[in-house]
Amino acid sequence: MTIHVTDTLFHLRNDSLSYIMQILPNGYLGQLYVGPAVPLDVDYSYLLEFAARPTSACPFYDNPVFSLEHVKQEYGQYGGSDYRQPAVVMSQPDGSTVTTFQYESHRIEAGKSRLDGLPATYVEDDSEAETLIIVLVDPLTTVRIELSYTLFSSRPVLTRTARFINDGHAEVFLDQAMSACLDLPDSEYEWRQFSGAWGRERHLKTRTLEQGITSIGSIRGNSSAQQNPFVILARPGTDDLQGEAIGCAFVYSGNFLIQAEVDTFDTTRLLVGIHPQGFRWKLRPGSSFQTPEVVFAYTAEGLNDLSATLHSLFRERLMRGQWRDRPRPIVTNNWEATYFDFTEDTLIDIARTAQGVGAELFVLDDGWFGARRGERAGLGDWTPNTDLLPDGIAGLSKKVTDLGIDFGLWVEPEMVNEDSDLFRTHPDWVIQTPNRRRSVGRFQLVLDYSRAEVVDHVFTQLSEVFSTAKISYVKWDMNRSLTEVFSSALPTDQQGEVAHRHMLGVYALLERLTTAFPHILFESCASGGARFDAGMFFYAPQAWASDDSDAVERLKIQWGSSFAYPIVSHGAHVSITPNHQVNRVTPLHTRANVAFFGAFGYELDLNKLSDEEIAEVKAQVAFMKEHRELIQFGTFYRLRSPFDSNVTCWMVVNKQKTKAIVGWYRVLNTVNAPFDRVRLVGLDTTKRYRITGNELVDGRDVVRSGSELHNIGLITSDRNSGDVPQNVTPNRDFDSRLFVLTAE
Ligand code: DGJ
Repeated sequence: MTIHVTDTLFHLRNDSLSYIMQILPNGYLGQLYVGPAVPLDVDYSYLLEFAARPTSACPFYDNPVFSLEHVKQEYGQYGGSDYRQPAVVMSQPDGSTVTTFQYESHRIEAGKSRLDGLPATYVEDDSEAETLIIVLVDPLTTVRIELSYTLFSSRPVLTRTARFINDGHAEVFLDQAMSACLDLPDSEYEWRQFSGAWGRERHLKTRTLEQGITSIGSIRGNSSAQQNPFVILARPGTDDLQGEAIGCAFVYSGNFLIQAEVDTFDTTRLLVGIHPQGFRWKLRPGSSFQTPEVVFAYTAEGLNDLSATLHSLFRERLMRGQWRDRPRPIVTNNWEATYFDFTEDTLIDIARTAQGVGAELFVLDDGWFGARRGERAGLGDWTPNTDLLPDGIAGLSKKVTDLGIDFGLWVEPEMVNEDSDLFRTHPDWVIQTPNRRRSVGRFQLVLDYSRAEVVDHVFTQLSEVFSTAKISYVKWDMNRSLTEVFSSALPTDQQGEVAHRHMLGVYALLERLTTAFPHILFESCASGGARFDAGMFFYAPQAWASDDSDAVERLKIQWGSSFAYPIVSHGAHVSITPNHQVNRVTPLHTRANVAFFGAFGYELDLNKLSDEEIAEVKAQVAFMKEHRELIQFGTFYRLRSPFDSNVTCWMVVNKQKTKAIVGWYRVLNTVNAPFDRVRLVGLDTTKRYRITGNELVDGRDVVRSGSELHNIGLITSDRNSGDVPQNVTPNRDFDSRLFVLTAE
């Protein structure tokens, strides 16, 4: 049992976490405690904070110590004596927005039920979790909210959603319907967010909470490269190795808001949900609205531990399908090799060489369909260009697979070019506002997926391609944000629903295609990493982390991504130098040593490499095949940050602690550098480990105990005749090494 209810108190508890709530005197739901597990047999109502304070408004005339302004709540609402930002704002027929949602009932369910049409974490057996549903009702409108809390039995993870049901006779509008509101008793937190831009996604930024609002969000229609729907609230001084923190991931890929408001009494209200900007949902009598899920994870042992919790949750109980637990194929993608400039022969040549170096999957990127010979035409017409590929995708996929390598294909199903048959036939199928200029992004428009017929059409077209060709992988791209959001298929008073309905349409198509083609490995992409979020991982168990494939840039991107998202999900490829995004020249071994920590592959024309480089690539592929199970499914530890240091260091350890790999990366060479050691973590201190390098290493093996490696450290500094492997000349920028540790 993880959920205990006594009188008016709800205590959700497992070995690592307690979450306690109580019904307040006015029937609202109050928050008492979230943190390390505390005893069950205690009446925690002493945590309710009642005090008469000057200027506070109070719900009851003769109870001056009870004001909503200074009690912690589970779902703050607008219009009473609580002046913090609310979780719900609901417009009613008389124009009012005041609500008084109060406790009505609760129920407990074993396990965790699916969210209709939305991505969410799940259980495979009811014993894995328990769900508490608390029903609140607004007495005047009789609209109900079902607040749902799932506590996993053996993970420090609580998930939340809210569902609105209109049981009344009048229609109402949800102007704001957040997925979760969490009031914390103080504001002693560092807020960590993962921000950036195209090409430099998920850079770690830290802010200290202050009185007022700290927030991130997206109103772009995708979760965005600018802000990722994940934050950490960490106690001051917390780092990767120690300290207390709450991680909060929004399982959604569209507009979002995550904000922390520190109020006048230094409490913190965390709100997570669909961004209220542009949102307005008409709730007709008898209808319901389901918010997306929020995942809260807790640690008392540092951010590596928090990441390990999220990695295993997302890997095991968010990702789905045949590829969930399987090491991912080594890819060769033709995008940076050819861009749009390819013929069938060029593609087959690349695929042949890829097969020769041991790669397992050849991916044909953009440009294979309709009139798509550049960015300006063809999107939306998912029929193969037979001038280019005489036997279509079916023929090309056969030719490629006959070489002994699998075939994968790029699509961008949510988009259309004006210069396309689809747009010429259905100009009203795009998102656009009447009588307003239509903005373009990469010369393309966004299809209106709030319309079922649009989703049906794309499903039919893609199904035709996927079922007639030998396709085992699909890269699902999305290269522009939404603008002028409006649907010609919805009435005036439902235009505030378009962005979310569009997202639901995208999820519906993903669900249909992943169900119809369960053998296909889907990788999501959005101009690189603009939709690298927990929502997409429900459908596609890996995502192209960034269009920036430079090894040095990738250190920061993959480091930031690793806080929430499992290593197996980070699409990471070796590309050519000078690098196409930053023009940097880095050694081939460093490009691979970074990309190994992800879903590995190549994004270059292998036929342009020298014999020496091809030999090195073969060794890299062999190394990845030998170690990918460990790298992609082991426990990942961040050791030294690219944001703080010239040297980045991370490692993975397998479950049995018998194998580990340490990645060491130095951006700039340093003259006459100090000696350096990196203290390793996650090893068995009683074991002895043989330390070798990968195939590129030309050094002597050494044996060190786990205790030495943990307490003294791994020597990583250059030595002329040192006792650690040396794989390259130490006198260069952008150097890196891998150390492979094997228990004896
Ligand atoms: C953006 C993606 O991030 C790239 O990898 C590539 O697929 C292009 N789109 C193709 O247009």
